[in-house]
Amino acid sequence: MKKDIQIGYEYFKNSSELSNIERTLFERAKLARENAYAPYSQFLVGCAVLLENGDIYSGNNQENAAFPSGLCAERTTLFWVAANFPKEKIKKIFVVGGPKEFSEKNPPIPPCGACRQSLLEFETKQNENIDLYFSSMNEEVIKVKSIKDLLPFSFDATFL
Ligand code: THU
Repeated sequence: MKKDIQIGYEYFKNSSELSNIERTLFERAKLARENAYAPYSQFLVGCAVLLENGDIYSGNNQENAAFPSGLCAERTTLFWVAANFPKEKIKKIFVVGGPKEFSEKNPPIPPCGACRQSLLEFETKQNENIDLYFSSMNEEVIKVKSIKDLLPFSFDATFL
């Protein structure tokens, strides 16, 4: 029996199509991207997280000479937020990435597989969806309304 999985997403051609809070998150993620420590890949990623109480926190990718010891922007940011505000729900996450010398052609940068799995854990833990946005520096933005949309057939705590 053949079955299909459909994934809905929103596409914004320009950040001017975003709401005020979405644009604020975009700006915060772009600012955080500038402080990324990525001397090996020269690929800078910033992430901004909106909490239920309205606070915004941001982070970026942190690389290491022993390559696997580095960490993506999403997990750097999420783990810090969870370590400091374990009870606050996460409403929205905005990711902005691209080569240090970016061009208008760089497409939106989606979270890597490991980050998707980590992001999913937060959604499962808080039992509430998280809006995820990802973009390059060229202002095109993609939005999904749940991390599950990025991870069909996902593994979570319900299987344990
Ligand atoms: N990177 C992120 O920060 N987030 C992603 O989802 C994709 C990749 C970082 C990891 C590494 O520092 C650089 O981008 C190149 O892979």
